[in-house]
Amino acid sequence: MKDTFTTVLGIARGAAAILREGYGRVEQVEYKGAVNLVTEWDRKSEAFIVESLRGAFPEYGIHAEEGGAEDHDSEYEWLIDPLDGTTNFAHAFPIFAVAIALMHRGKPILGVVVDPLREEYFTATAGGGAALNGRPIHVSPTKSLGVSLLTTGFPYDVRTHPQNNVAEFANFCVRAQAVRRAGSAALDLCWTASGRADGFWEFRLKPWDVAAGALIVLEAGGRVTDAQGGERYLTGQSIVASNGLIHDEMLRVLTEGAEAPLPGN
Ligand code: IPD
Ligand code: CA
Ligand code: CA
Repeated sequence: MKDTFTTVLGIARGAAAILREGYGRVEQVEYKGAVNLVTEWDRKSEAFIVESLRGAFPEYGIHAEEGGAEDHDSEYEWLIDPLDGTTNFAHAFPIFAVAIALMHRGKPILGVVVDPLREEYFTATAGGGAALNGRPIHVSPTKSLGVSLLTTGFPYDVRTHPQNNVAEFANFCVRAQAVRRAGSAALDLCWTASGRADGFWEFRLKPWDVAAGALIVLEAGGRVTDAQGGERYLTGQSIVASNGLIHDEMLRVLTEGAEAPLPGN
């Protein structure tokens, strides 16, 4: 596992260097949906990652956001988000990441998320703990929602889907200390893992958005569930990640909505 870890970290950092080169230089923006973009740098990053992983691990399956796929009869599969935060990147808003997870029978066993502009790399292996630039990280000790900093995001069908996170956002705004929408789910998860944020929730993310970051949160001592408190956070409709201590309060806001208790009540 150590060799695999070193190799994939090198590949993710190589992709991060590609994104640094492209930052502020986007020329081609295509629309996958009304507000769902892809740039030439998503594709360049993905081509580099897919080619490198294929060369290093020819027997493993590959599933990447922009279509890079390789099906093998293997229990192992790479899940790749070559640029998490494309909307930010297209506007030169400085928050985006590369995320790669190694899945074994559908469960993440290795996760790497690289923040190219801050040169931070978040990593975890199942049972081996989580780290930021090689140093162990832990979730925050914050005990209650009322003094918590949360992060979230909005789905690409925000204009049309009845559960577009606007009501949930409002409900958390008046119950948490603050809520941020930074624009990269992978970094939202890593910032929860490293204690910069206390919790994160979002709806209808894809497995490549969350697989690496969810493992990093778990290995940093946090808790990850779906909005019902169940385990379907990779392939289901929702994800809630936290330091564990505020998790039940977060689930309550998501299930009870405006009826959930306000701080001090
Ligand atoms: C998006 C980002 C964003 C989240 C969206 C994701 P992309 O990923 O993670 O924070 O709110 O739901 O789809 O499309 O930039 O890779
Ligand atoms: Ca993404
Ligand atoms: Ca992406």
